[in-house]
Amino acid sequence: MREKPDHYTDQAKQQGYLARSVFKLEELDRRFGLLKHAGAVLDLGAAPGSWTQYVLRTRPEARVVAVDLAPIRLPEETANLTVINDDIFRPELIEDLRRLGPFELVLSDAAPATTGNRGLDAARSASLAEMVVEIARHTLAEHGTLVAKIFQGGDERELLKQLRSEFRSARACKPRACRKDSVETYLLASRRH
Ligand SMILES: C[S@@+](CC[C@H](N)C(=O)[O-])C[C@H]1O[C@@H](n2cnc3c(N)ncnc32)[C@H](O)[C@@H]1O
Repeated sequence: MREKPDHYTDQAKQQGYLARSVFKLEELDRRFGLLKHAGAVLDLGAAPGSWTQYVLRTRPEARVVAVDLAPIRLPEETANLTVINDDIFRPELIEDLRRLGPFELVLSDAAPATTGNRGLDAARSASLAEMVVEIARHTLAEHGTLVAKIFQGGDERELLKQLRSEFRSARACKPRACRKDSVETYLLASRRH
């Protein structure tokens, strides 16, 4: 079902962003200074591309690698962007990404196509998030930060616990730009001091 346009949809259009999701990343960046130390950024589940646009506009000198099953076509010039049209579950992808890293920031807004069955959707979202964490283990820079979307109602607490045991700090955060009825939240984990 197509989601209803709202204030964030209008704002995104006015500012030339490809999706309203950009305001979720903007808020996370404002609160946690995600892009402050980010010379290289990996954006997983990046299509249509508003997060990648935000990174390139905020840090024009940053190198960005954007991955999605769907096409990513930005309206602006993008000399320092590498687009990979791929499935994050493809085992060889990690090696390809490792060659392009390390990344100070690994982002994932990847989400499954929803079925309406909350349990199934949450399980699929958790599998994506677990894969994202596995990719981050191999590609994140020494002092890097990971941001991964996950649906609530599945294994999000378990995954947060796991991140707390592996990273210097980890927390969950739900930006205001998430739709009121949305089950999505974001896990942030950092190796930064
Ligand atoms: C909510 S959209 C991302 C929006 C994006 N952050 C933006 O701002 O434009 C979720 C994306 O996850 C992608 N996705 C889902 N499963 C994937 C997979 N296995 N591999 C790669 N991308 C995947 C979908 O194709 C979709 O484009």
